Amino acid sequence: MTDLMEAVTGLAKRRGIAFQSAEIYGGLRSSWDYGPLGVELRRNIRAAWWRSTVQLRDDVVGVESAIVTSPRVWQASGHLETFHDPLVECTSCHQRWREDHLEADANGIVACPNCGGAEFTEPKQFNLMLKTFLGPIEDDDSVAYLRPETAQGMFVNFPAVQTVSRKKLPFGIAQIGKSFRNEITPGNFIFRTREFEQMELEFFVEPGTDEEWFEHWVEQRMNWYLDLGVAKEKLRLRPHDAEELAHYAKAATDVEYEFPFGWQELEGIANRTDYDLRAHQNASGEDLSYFDQEHESRYLPYVVEPAVGVDRALLTFLLDAYRVEEVPTAKGGTDKRTVLGLHRDLAPIKVAVLPLSRNEKLGPEARRVHDLVKPHWITQYDDAGAIGRRYRRQDEVGTPFCVTVDFDTLDDRQVTVRERDTMQQDRIAIDALVPYLLERL
Ligand code: GAP
Repeated sequence: MTDLMEAVTGLAKRRGIAFQSAEIYGGLRSSWDYGPLGVELRRNIRAAWWRSTVQLRDDVVGVESAIVTSPRVWQASGHLETFHDPLVECTSCHQRWREDHLEADANGIVACPNCGGAEFTEPKQFNLMLKTFLGPIEDDDSVAYLRPETAQGMFVNFPAVQTVSRKKLPFGIAQIGKSFRNEITPGNFIFRTREFEQMELEFFVEPGTDEEWFEHWVEQRMNWYLDLGVAKEKLRLRPHDAEELAHYAKAATDVEYEFPFGWQELEGIANRTDYDLRAHQNASGEDLSYFDQEHESRYLPYVVEPAVGVDRALLTFLLDAYRVEEVPTAKGGTDKRTVLGLHRDLAPIKVAVLPLSRNEKLGPEARRVHDLVKPHWITQYDDAGAIGRRYRRQDEVGTPFCVTVDFDTLDDRQVTVRERDTMQQDRIAIDALVPYLLERL
Protein backbone atom coordinates (compact mmCIF):
# COMPACT_ATOMS: atom_id res chain seq x y z
CA MET A 1 0.00 0.00 0.00
CA THR A 2 1.28 3.49 -0.78
CA ASP A 3 1.89 6.08 1.93
CA LEU A 4 -1.19 8.08 0.93
CA MET A 5 -3.47 5.02 0.94
CA GLU A 6 -2.04 3.99 4.31
CA ALA A 7 -2.53 7.49 5.73
CA VAL A 8 -6.11 7.72 4.46
CA THR A 9 -7.18 4.22 5.53
CA GLY A 10 -5.54 4.89 8.93
CA LEU A 11 -7.43 8.17 9.29
CA ALA A 12 -10.67 6.52 8.14
CA LYS A 13 -10.34 3.89 10.85
CA ARG A 14 -9.07 6.19 13.62
CA ARG A 15 -11.79 8.78 13.11
CA GLY A 16 -14.72 6.48 12.44
CA ILE A 17 -15.18 6.93 8.71
CA ALA A 18 -14.90 3.25 7.72
CA PHE A 19 -14.02 0.08 9.63
CA GLN A 20 -13.35 -3.45 8.52
CA SER A 21 -16.68 -5.26 8.81
CA ALA A 22 -16.99 -7.82 11.63
CA GLU A 23 -13.47 -7.01 12.82
CA ILE A 24 -14.04 -8.74 16.16
CA TYR A 25 -14.26 -11.99 14.16
CA GLY A 26 -11.19 -11.21 12.08
CA GLY A 27 -13.17 -9.31 9.47
CA LEU A 28 -14.75 -10.31 6.19
CA ARG A 29 -12.49 -9.66 3.20
CA SER A 30 -13.29 -6.44 1.37
CA SER A 31 -16.37 -5.77 3.48
CA TRP A 32 -16.52 -2.40 5.23
CA ASP A 33 -18.79 -0.72 7.75
CA TYR A 34 -19.13 3.04 7.90
CA GLY A 35 -18.85 4.84 11.25
CA PRO A 36 -20.48 8.09 12.38
CA LEU A 37 -18.40 10.41 10.18
CA GLY A 38 -18.51 8.01 7.23
CA VAL A 39 -22.31 7.99 7.45
CA GLU A 40 -22.43 11.80 7.27
CA LEU A 41 -19.95 11.92 4.40
CA ARG A 42 -21.96 9.35 2.43
CA ARG A 43 -25.19 11.27 3.08
CA ASN A 44 -23.51 14.42 1.76
CA ILE A 45 -22.18 12.68 -1.36
CA ARG A 46 -25.62 11.25 -2.13
CA ALA A 47 -27.25 14.64 -1.48
CA ALA A 48 -24.80 16.48 -3.76
CA TRP A 49 -25.44 13.95 -6.54
CA TRP A 50 -29.21 14.03 -6.08
CA ARG A 51 -29.24 17.81 -6.02
CA SER A 52 -27.34 18.18 -9.27
CA THR A 53 -28.96 15.21 -11.06
CA VAL A 54 -32.58 15.49 -9.92
CA GLN A 55 -33.40 18.54 -7.83
CA LEU A 56 -31.86 21.23 -10.04
CA ARG A 57 -33.24 19.75 -13.27
CA ASP A 58 -36.77 19.58 -14.62
CA ASP A 59 -36.12 16.47 -16.66
CA VAL A 60 -35.12 13.84 -14.07
CA VAL A 61 -37.21 11.98 -11.46
CA GLY A 62 -36.27 9.29 -8.94
CA VAL A 63 -37.15 5.69 -8.15
CA GLU A 64 -36.08 3.13 -5.57
CA SER A 65 -36.41 -0.36 -6.95
CA ALA A 66 -35.97 -3.73 -5.22
CA ILE A 67 -32.52 -5.21 -4.67
CA VAL A 68 -33.69 -8.79 -5.03
CA THR A 69 -35.37 -9.08 -8.39
CA SER A 70 -36.94 -11.67 -10.63
CA PRO A 71 -34.30 -13.79 -12.43
CA ARG A 72 -36.22 -13.01 -15.63
CA VAL A 73 -34.90 -9.43 -15.41
CA TRP A 74 -31.30 -10.70 -15.45
CA GLN A 75 -32.04 -13.28 -18.10
CA ALA A 76 -33.44 -10.58 -20.37
CA SER A 77 -30.78 -7.97 -19.58
CA GLY A 78 -28.05 -10.41 -20.58
CA HIS A 79 -26.39 -10.39 -17.16
CA LEU A 80 -26.86 -14.12 -16.52
CA GLU A 81 -25.22 -14.96 -19.81
CA THR A 82 -22.58 -12.29 -20.24
CA PHE A 83 -21.81 -10.50 -16.94
CA HIS A 84 -18.51 -12.34 -16.61
CA ASP A 85 -14.91 -11.67 -15.72
CA PRO A 86 -12.05 -13.92 -16.89
CA LEU A 87 -10.81 -16.03 -13.95
CA VAL A 88 -7.40 -17.71 -13.85
CA GLU A 89 -5.76 -19.77 -11.10
CA CYS A 90 -2.05 -19.74 -10.24
CA THR A 91 -0.87 -23.35 -10.67
CA SER A 92 1.64 -22.97 -7.77
CA CYS A 93 -0.35 -21.35 -4.92
CA HIS A 94 -3.88 -21.87 -6.35
CA GLN A 95 -4.83 -18.26 -5.69
CA ARG A 96 -7.45 -17.03 -8.16
CA TRP A 97 -7.14 -13.80 -10.11
CA ARG A 98 -8.97 -11.71 -12.64
CA GLU A 99 -6.87 -12.22 -15.75
CA ASP A 100 -7.29 -8.66 -17.01
CA HIS A 101 -6.00 -7.31 -13.66
CA LEU A 102 -2.68 -9.18 -13.85
CA GLU A 103 0.15 -7.07 -15.22
CA ALA A 104 3.19 -8.15 -17.20
CA ASP A 105 6.64 -6.97 -16.06
CA ALA A 106 9.21 -5.25 -18.31
CA ASN A 107 10.10 -8.65 -19.85
CA GLY A 108 6.48 -9.41 -20.60
CA ILE A 109 6.22 -12.02 -17.82
CA VAL A 110 3.01 -12.15 -15.83
CA ALA A 111 3.74 -13.23 -12.24
CA CYS A 112 1.27 -14.27 -9.55
CA PRO A 113 1.02 -11.31 -7.10
CA ASN A 114 0.86 -13.84 -4.25
CA CYS A 115 3.74 -16.29 -4.88
CA GLY A 116 5.51 -15.01 -7.99
CA GLY A 117 4.64 -18.15 -9.99
CA ALA A 118 4.29 -17.57 -13.72
CA GLU A 119 1.90 -20.35 -14.70
CA PHE A 120 -1.85 -19.99 -14.70
CA THR A 121 -4.77 -22.13 -15.76
CA GLU A 122 -6.69 -21.24 -18.93
CA PRO A 123 -9.14 -18.36 -18.25
CA LYS A 124 -12.67 -19.40 -17.30
CA GLN A 125 -15.63 -17.04 -17.58
CA PHE A 126 -16.84 -16.37 -14.03
CA ASN A 127 -20.33 -14.90 -13.55
CA LEU A 128 -20.41 -12.01 -11.06
CA MET A 129 -24.07 -12.30 -10.05
CA LEU A 130 -24.71 -13.04 -6.35
CA LYS A 131 -27.35 -15.70 -6.02
CA THR A 132 -29.85 -16.34 -3.26
CA PHE A 133 -33.06 -18.34 -2.75
CA LEU A 134 -36.47 -16.94 -1.94
CA GLY A 135 -38.65 -18.97 0.41
CA PRO A 136 -37.96 -22.13 2.41
CA ILE A 137 -36.97 -24.43 -0.46
CA GLU A 138 -33.64 -24.04 -2.21
CA ASP A 139 -34.26 -25.23 -5.75
CA ASP A 140 -34.13 -23.87 -9.30
CA ASP A 141 -37.58 -22.31 -8.94
CA SER A 142 -36.61 -20.25 -5.88
CA VAL A 143 -33.36 -18.79 -7.29
CA ALA A 144 -33.17 -15.00 -7.20
CA TYR A 145 -30.30 -12.56 -7.67
CA LEU A 146 -29.01 -9.52 -5.84
CA ARG A 147 -28.84 -6.78 -8.46
CA PRO A 148 -25.35 -6.12 -9.90
CA GLU A 149 -26.46 -2.62 -11.01
CA THR A 150 -29.43 -0.44 -10.08
CA ALA A 151 -30.02 0.34 -13.77
CA GLN A 152 -32.41 -2.51 -14.58
CA GLY A 153 -34.86 -1.18 -11.96
CA MET A 154 -35.13 1.97 -14.05
CA PHE A 155 -35.61 0.12 -17.36
CA VAL A 156 -38.36 -2.20 -16.19
CA ASN A 157 -40.16 0.76 -14.58
CA PHE A 158 -39.75 3.07 -17.58
CA PRO A 159 -43.39 3.05 -18.82
CA ALA A 160 -44.83 3.33 -15.28
CA VAL A 161 -42.56 6.21 -14.26
CA GLN A 162 -43.09 8.00 -17.56
CA THR A 163 -46.86 7.74 -17.18
CA VAL A 164 -47.07 8.88 -13.55
CA SER A 165 -44.54 11.69 -13.91
CA ARG A 166 -46.08 12.82 -17.24
CA LYS A 167 -42.59 13.52 -18.56
CA LYS A 168 -41.87 13.88 -22.24
CA LEU A 169 -38.60 12.74 -23.78
CA PRO A 170 -35.83 13.57 -23.17
CA PHE A 171 -36.10 12.71 -19.50
CA GLY A 172 -34.25 10.60 -16.97
CA ILE A 173 -34.82 8.29 -14.02
CA ALA A 174 -32.30 8.39 -11.18
CA GLN A 175 -31.64 5.93 -8.39
CA ILE A 176 -29.24 5.54 -5.49
CA GLY A 177 -28.91 2.11 -3.94
CA LYS A 178 -26.87 -0.95 -3.12
CA SER A 179 -25.55 -3.29 -5.78
CA PHE A 180 -23.69 -6.58 -5.41
CA ARG A 181 -21.03 -8.33 -7.49
CA ASN A 182 -19.07 -11.42 -6.65
CA GLU A 183 -15.81 -9.70 -7.64
CA ILE A 184 -12.87 -12.09 -8.11
CA THR A 185 -10.31 -9.62 -6.77
CA PRO A 186 -11.88 -6.98 -4.56
CA GLY A 187 -9.45 -4.65 -2.85
CA ASN A 188 -7.81 -1.27 -2.39
CA PHE A 189 -9.95 -0.50 0.68
CA ILE A 190 -13.42 0.60 -0.54
CA PHE A 191 -12.40 0.95 -4.20
CA ARG A 192 -13.66 -2.49 -5.25
CA THR A 193 -15.96 -4.41 -2.95
CA ARG A 194 -18.64 -7.05 -3.36
CA GLU A 195 -21.34 -4.90 -1.78
CA PHE A 196 -21.35 -1.25 -2.85
CA GLU A 197 -23.73 1.59 -3.47
CA GLN A 198 -24.40 3.14 -6.87
CA MET A 199 -25.76 6.47 -8.05
CA GLU A 200 -27.13 5.89 -11.53
CA LEU A 201 -29.11 7.88 -14.04
CA GLU A 202 -30.86 6.41 -17.08
CA PHE A 203 -31.55 9.31 -19.42
CA PHE A 204 -34.07 8.37 -22.15
CA VAL A 205 -33.74 10.21 -25.47
CA GLU A 206 -34.95 10.07 -29.03
CA PRO A 207 -32.67 7.85 -31.18
CA GLY A 208 -30.41 10.09 -33.23
CA THR A 209 -30.04 12.60 -30.39
CA ASP A 210 -28.18 10.10 -28.17
CA GLU A 211 -24.64 11.13 -29.13
CA GLU A 212 -25.32 14.76 -28.30
CA TRP A 213 -26.82 13.78 -24.94
CA PHE A 214 -23.85 11.50 -24.29
CA GLU A 215 -21.51 14.48 -24.68
CA HIS A 216 -23.78 16.54 -22.43
CA TRP A 217 -23.61 14.00 -19.61
CA VAL A 218 -19.88 13.43 -19.92
CA GLU A 219 -19.39 17.17 -19.47
CA GLN A 220 -21.92 17.44 -16.62
CA ARG A 221 -20.37 14.60 -14.70
CA MET A 222 -16.82 15.86 -15.07
CA ASN A 223 -17.96 19.28 -13.84
CA TRP A 224 -19.61 17.69 -10.79
CA TYR A 225 -16.22 16.49 -9.52
CA LEU A 226 -14.53 19.77 -10.36
CA ASP A 227 -17.28 21.77 -8.62
CA LEU A 228 -16.77 19.60 -5.54
CA GLY A 229 -13.11 20.57 -5.52
CA VAL A 230 -11.41 17.47 -6.96
CA ALA A 231 -8.03 18.45 -8.44
CA LYS A 232 -8.34 18.92 -12.21
CA GLU A 233 -4.98 17.31 -12.95
CA LYS A 234 -6.08 14.14 -11.15
CA LEU A 235 -9.12 13.66 -13.38
CA ARG A 236 -9.30 12.61 -17.02
CA LEU A 237 -11.78 11.20 -19.51
CA ARG A 238 -11.03 7.89 -21.19
CA PRO A 239 -13.23 6.68 -24.06
CA HIS A 240 -13.53 2.87 -24.24
CA ASP A 241 -12.10 0.87 -27.13
CA ALA A 242 -14.66 -1.19 -29.04
CA GLU A 243 -13.40 -4.48 -27.53
CA GLU A 244 -13.79 -3.37 -23.91
CA LEU A 245 -17.36 -2.07 -24.24
CA ALA A 246 -19.93 -3.72 -21.96
CA HIS A 247 -22.36 -6.07 -23.70
CA TYR A 248 -25.06 -3.37 -23.77
CA ALA A 249 -23.07 -0.31 -24.87
CA LYS A 250 -22.49 1.45 -28.19
CA ALA A 251 -20.02 3.91 -26.63
CA ALA A 252 -18.63 4.56 -23.16
CA THR A 253 -16.32 7.05 -21.51
CA ASP A 254 -14.88 6.69 -18.04
CA VAL A 255 -14.14 9.54 -15.71
CA GLU A 256 -10.81 8.35 -14.32
CA TYR A 257 -9.01 9.50 -11.21
CA GLU A 258 -5.32 9.09 -10.48
CA PHE A 259 -5.52 6.91 -7.38
CA PRO A 260 -2.29 6.04 -5.50
CA PHE A 261 -2.56 2.65 -7.27
CA GLY A 262 -2.83 4.22 -10.74
CA TRP A 263 -5.40 5.79 -13.08
CA GLN A 264 -8.68 3.94 -12.52
CA GLU A 265 -12.36 4.25 -13.38
CA LEU A 266 -14.21 6.51 -10.98
CA GLU A 267 -17.40 6.72 -13.02
CA GLY A 268 -18.66 5.29 -16.29
CA ILE A 269 -20.89 7.07 -18.81
CA ALA A 270 -22.41 4.72 -21.38
CA ASN A 271 -24.60 5.00 -24.44
CA ARG A 272 -26.77 1.91 -23.88
CA THR A 273 -28.86 2.52 -27.03
CA ASP A 274 -32.27 0.79 -26.82
CA TYR A 275 -30.54 -2.47 -25.84
CA ASP A 276 -32.22 -2.84 -22.43
CA LEU A 277 -35.73 -1.63 -23.30
CA ARG A 278 -35.72 -3.85 -26.39
CA ALA A 279 -34.49 -6.85 -24.41
CA HIS A 280 -37.19 -6.40 -21.73
CA GLN A 281 -39.86 -5.76 -24.35
CA ASN A 282 -38.96 -8.97 -26.18
CA ALA A 283 -38.73 -11.07 -23.00
CA SER A 284 -41.85 -9.70 -21.24
CA GLY A 285 -44.09 -9.23 -24.25
CA GLU A 286 -45.00 -5.77 -22.87
CA ASP A 287 -44.85 -2.71 -25.09
CA LEU A 288 -42.10 -0.46 -23.68
CA SER A 289 -42.12 2.05 -26.52
CA TYR A 290 -42.75 5.77 -26.20
CA PHE A 291 -45.29 7.74 -28.20
CA ASP A 292 -43.86 11.06 -29.32
CA GLN A 293 -46.94 13.31 -29.60
CA GLU A 294 -45.09 16.14 -31.26
CA HIS A 295 -43.83 14.01 -34.17
CA GLU A 296 -46.68 11.50 -33.99
CA SER A 297 -44.23 8.62 -33.95
CA ARG A 298 -43.61 5.63 -31.68
CA TYR A 299 -40.16 4.32 -30.85
CA LEU A 300 -37.96 2.69 -28.22
CA PRO A 301 -35.88 5.44 -26.61
CA TYR A 302 -32.10 5.32 -26.49
CA VAL A 303 -30.48 5.61 -23.08
CA VAL A 304 -27.46 7.56 -21.86
CA GLU A 305 -26.25 6.38 -18.46
CA PRO A 306 -23.84 8.05 -16.03
CA ALA A 307 -23.07 5.63 -13.15
CA VAL A 308 -20.79 6.01 -10.14
CA GLY A 309 -20.27 4.23 -6.83
CA VAL A 310 -20.83 6.15 -3.57
CA ASP A 311 -17.95 4.24 -1.98
CA ARG A 312 -15.54 4.88 -4.86
CA ALA A 313 -16.49 8.56 -4.90
CA LEU A 314 -15.95 8.70 -1.13
CA LEU A 315 -12.47 7.20 -1.50
CA THR A 316 -11.70 9.73 -4.24
CA PHE A 317 -12.85 12.68 -2.14
CA LEU A 318 -10.82 11.47 0.86
CA LEU A 319 -7.60 10.88 -1.11
CA ASP A 320 -7.97 14.14 -2.97
CA ALA A 321 -8.67 16.18 0.17
CA TYR A 322 -5.93 14.73 2.39
CA ARG A 323 -2.90 16.90 3.07
CA VAL A 324 -0.29 17.41 5.78
CA GLU A 325 0.89 20.99 6.24
CA GLU A 326 3.57 22.75 8.22
CA VAL A 327 2.14 25.52 10.37
CA PRO A 328 3.92 28.10 12.52
CA THR A 329 3.54 27.79 16.29
CA ALA A 330 3.05 30.69 18.73
CA LYS A 331 6.62 30.15 20.00
CA GLY A 332 8.13 30.72 16.53
CA GLY A 333 8.62 27.05 15.64
CA THR A 334 6.70 24.86 13.23
CA ASP A 335 4.17 22.14 13.74
CA LYS A 336 2.39 19.72 11.42
CA ARG A 337 -1.32 19.57 10.87
CA THR A 338 -3.36 17.06 8.89
CA VAL A 339 -6.21 18.61 6.95
CA LEU A 340 -9.04 17.06 5.00
CA GLY A 341 -9.73 19.91 2.61
CA LEU A 342 -13.19 18.56 1.77
CA HIS A 343 -15.66 20.79 -0.07
CA ARG A 344 -18.02 22.37 2.46
CA ASP A 345 -20.99 20.49 1.03
CA LEU A 346 -19.22 17.20 1.72
CA ALA A 347 -17.64 17.86 5.13
CA PRO A 348 -19.25 15.46 7.67
CA ILE A 349 -19.25 18.05 10.48
CA LYS A 350 -19.86 21.63 9.39
CA VAL A 351 -19.33 23.47 12.68
CA ALA A 352 -17.53 22.54 15.90
CA VAL A 353 -18.27 24.48 19.09
CA LEU A 354 -15.33 24.58 21.48
CA PRO A 355 -15.26 26.27 24.88
CA LEU A 356 -11.71 27.56 25.45
CA SER A 357 -11.47 25.28 28.47
CA ARG A 358 -13.70 23.10 30.59
CA ASN A 359 -15.07 25.69 32.96
CA GLU A 360 -18.32 26.13 34.88
CA LYS A 361 -19.01 29.53 33.28
CA LEU A 362 -17.81 28.79 29.73
CA GLY A 363 -19.56 25.40 29.49
CA PRO A 364 -23.17 26.64 29.72
CA GLU A 365 -22.43 29.58 27.40
CA ALA A 366 -20.83 27.28 24.81
CA ARG A 367 -23.80 24.90 25.08
CA ARG A 368 -26.13 27.82 24.30
CA VAL A 369 -24.04 28.69 21.23
CA HIS A 370 -24.14 25.02 20.21
CA ASP A 371 -27.93 25.00 20.56
CA LEU A 372 -28.06 27.99 18.19
CA VAL A 373 -26.16 26.30 15.36
CA LYS A 374 -27.38 22.70 15.84
CA PRO A 375 -30.69 23.09 13.97
CA HIS A 376 -28.86 24.23 10.84
CA TRP A 377 -25.95 21.81 10.41
CA ILE A 378 -24.34 18.64 11.68
CA THR A 379 -22.23 20.01 14.51
CA GLN A 380 -19.96 18.77 17.25
CA TYR A 381 -19.41 20.02 20.78
CA ASP A 382 -15.92 19.26 22.10
CA ASP A 383 -14.46 20.43 25.39
CA ALA A 384 -11.86 17.68 25.95
CA GLY A 385 -8.16 18.66 25.86
CA ALA A 386 -6.12 21.66 24.83
CA ILE A 387 -7.77 24.02 22.33
CA GLY A 388 -4.95 23.57 19.77
CA ARG A 389 -5.44 19.81 19.77
CA ARG A 390 -9.17 20.23 19.34
CA TYR A 391 -8.61 22.44 16.28
CA ARG A 392 -6.33 19.73 14.84
CA ARG A 393 -8.98 17.06 15.46
CA GLN A 394 -11.48 19.09 13.47
CA ASP A 395 -8.99 19.90 10.67
CA GLU A 396 -8.29 16.19 10.29
CA VAL A 397 -11.93 15.42 9.50
CA GLY A 398 -12.48 18.50 7.36
CA THR A 399 -14.70 20.62 9.63
CA PRO A 400 -14.89 24.01 7.86
CA PHE A 401 -15.57 26.15 10.96
CA CYS A 402 -14.67 26.02 14.65
CA VAL A 403 -16.47 28.40 16.99
CA THR A 404 -14.61 29.15 20.21
CA VAL A 405 -16.26 30.51 23.33
CA ASP A 406 -13.77 32.25 25.66
CA PHE A 407 -13.86 34.41 28.77
CA ASP A 408 -14.32 37.61 26.71
CA THR A 409 -17.49 36.04 25.28
CA LEU A 410 -19.11 36.33 28.71
CA ASP A 411 -18.68 40.15 28.55
CA ASP A 412 -18.78 41.11 24.87
CA ARG A 413 -21.23 38.40 23.60
CA GLN A 414 -18.83 37.57 20.77
CA VAL A 415 -17.21 34.29 19.69
CA THR A 416 -14.13 33.48 17.60
CA VAL A 417 -14.82 31.72 14.31
CA ARG A 418 -11.81 29.92 12.83
CA GLU A 419 -11.83 28.84 9.19
CA ARG A 420 -10.21 25.47 8.41
CA ASP A 421 -8.03 26.24 5.37
CA THR A 422 -6.77 29.75 6.11
CA MET A 423 -6.92 29.31 9.91
CA GLN A 424 -8.05 32.93 9.90
CA GLN A 425 -10.03 33.92 12.98
CA ASP A 426 -12.97 36.37 12.99
CA ARG A 427 -14.63 37.79 16.05
CA ILE A 428 -18.42 37.57 15.51
CA ALA A 429 -21.36 38.62 17.70
CA ILE A 430 -23.33 35.58 18.88
CA ASP A 431 -26.48 37.12 17.40
CA ALA A 432 -24.78 37.33 13.98
CA LEU A 433 -23.21 33.85 14.11
CA VAL A 434 -25.87 31.85 12.25
CA PRO A 435 -26.17 34.39 9.37
CA TYR A 436 -22.34 34.53 9.19
CA LEU A 437 -22.11 30.73 8.87
CA LEU A 438 -25.13 30.49 6.56
CA GLU A 439 -23.41 32.82 4.13
CA ARG A 440 -20.26 30.69 4.10
CA LEU A 441 -21.72 27.19 4.22
N1 GAP B 1 -25.10 0.41 -14.76
C1 GAP B 1 -23.78 0.51 -15.29
C2 GAP B 1 -22.77 0.02 -14.38
O1 GAP B 1 -23.05 -0.56 -13.35
P1 GAP B 1 -20.17 -0.09 -14.02
O2 GAP B 1 -19.07 0.65 -14.73
O3 GAP B 1 -20.04 -1.56 -13.90
O4 GAP B 1 -21.49 0.32 -14.78
C3 GAP B 1 -20.59 1.91 -12.42
O5 GAP B 1 -20.36 0.54 -12.57
C4 GAP B 1 -19.79 2.45 -11.24
O6 GAP B 1 -20.12 1.71 -10.06
C5 GAP B 1 -18.26 2.31 -11.38
O7 GAP B 1 -17.73 3.35 -12.14
C6 GAP B 1 -17.84 2.38 -9.93
O8 GAP B 1 -17.82 3.72 -9.48
C7 GAP B 1 -18.97 1.64 -9.22
N2 GAP B 1 -18.60 0.22 -9.03
C8 GAP B 1 -18.74 -0.79 -9.90
N3 GAP B 1 -18.30 -1.96 -9.36
C9 GAP B 1 -17.88 -1.66 -8.12
C10 GAP B 1 -17.31 -2.45 -7.04
N4 GAP B 1 -17.14 -3.76 -7.15
N5 GAP B 1 -16.99 -1.81 -5.90
C11 GAP B 1 -17.19 -0.47 -5.76
N6 GAP B 1 -17.72 0.30 -6.73
C12 GAP B 1 -18.06 -0.27 -7.89
